[in-house]
Amino acid sequence: MNTDTTNIAGKVVVITGASSGLGEAAARYLSERGAIVVLGARRVERIEALAAEITGNGGQALALATDVTDAAQVQALVDAAVERFGRIDVMLNNAGLMPHSPLERRKIADWDRTIDVNIKGVLYGIAAALPYMQKQSGGHFINVSSVAGHKVGPAGAVYSATKTAVRVISEGLRQEVKPWNIRTTIISPGAVATELPQSITEPDVAQGIGQFYEEYAIPADAFARAVAFAISQPEDVDIDEILFRPTRQEL
Ligand SMILES: NC(=O)c1ccc[n+]([C@@H]2O[C@H](COP(=O)([O-])OP(=O)(O)OC[C@H]3O[C@@H](n4cnc5c(N)ncnc54)[C@H](OP(=O)(O)O)[C@@H]3O)[C@@H](O)[C@H]2O)c1
Repeated sequence: MNTDTTNIAGKVVVITGASSGLGEAAARYLSERGAIVVLGARRVERIEALAAEITGNGGQALALATDVTDAAQVQALVDAAVERFGRIDVMLNNAGLMPHSPLERRKIADWDRTIDVNIKGVLYGIAAALPYMQKQSGGHFINVSSVAGHKVGPAGAVYSATKTAVRVISEGLRQEVKPWNIRTTIISPGAVATELPQSITEPDVAQGIGQFYEEYAIPADAFARAVAFAISQPEDVDIDEILFRPTRQEL
């Protein structure tokens, strides 16, 4: 196992959507390399258990119930990180959902939730962390997009739109934050085994995507390694975009 802690150890990393899947895997992986992790999600019992596990292993972690559709809660998460640990080095805007369905099914509540979490949640994370990073003259935003932010397919129009928005917002942010020495990374995963397909509310679509994930998805460590790679670069190196897929995944 690669446990190189270079430029990761001691960093304060705030992670939204840390209660399962990619966020949970990143929290474990980074804390094993000495990062201090601040965990946000709605399922507070899960992030509290993860924080207890990390501290039990000698790491440092804090968990705070956070719904990213509420800007004040995202601000409270980032404020808690700075209050407890003195700074915020990385904001990992990871919380998301993927309730695929064809547009003609008019799943308006799903569209609203997807936009609220996947786009507004990322913006709220930027709003909360940016002033601290400007004051520090340093920091790192990592925003989670998707292969679906590069490609659109049937039943995925709204999800792809939100993940394209994440890339556009991240690139705009990248250009704006040069004066403050802030890094920005977009990570676009392909199929990774997480609870994400469970956010699909149409049974037939869920079945099809569930089968695809069962056949192709790779473990969440792949994401954690990509995050660690971006963070661990020397401060004058900005890894702007990482796209990865299961080797077998064609789409
Ligand atoms: N897995 C993949 O194949 C894949 C591929 C490309 C991109 N992604 C992206 O990766 C990110 C993480 O997803 P995942 O695959 O790890 O899926 P997951 O296992 O379902 O995790 C999603 C996370 O987002 C959190 N979340 C959802 N709504 C939230 C809200 N309103 N407020 C705060 N947190 C919320 C969930 O926590 P609570 O429910 O506890 O709040 C959970 O921790 C998403 O942005 C997803 O679009 C995943």
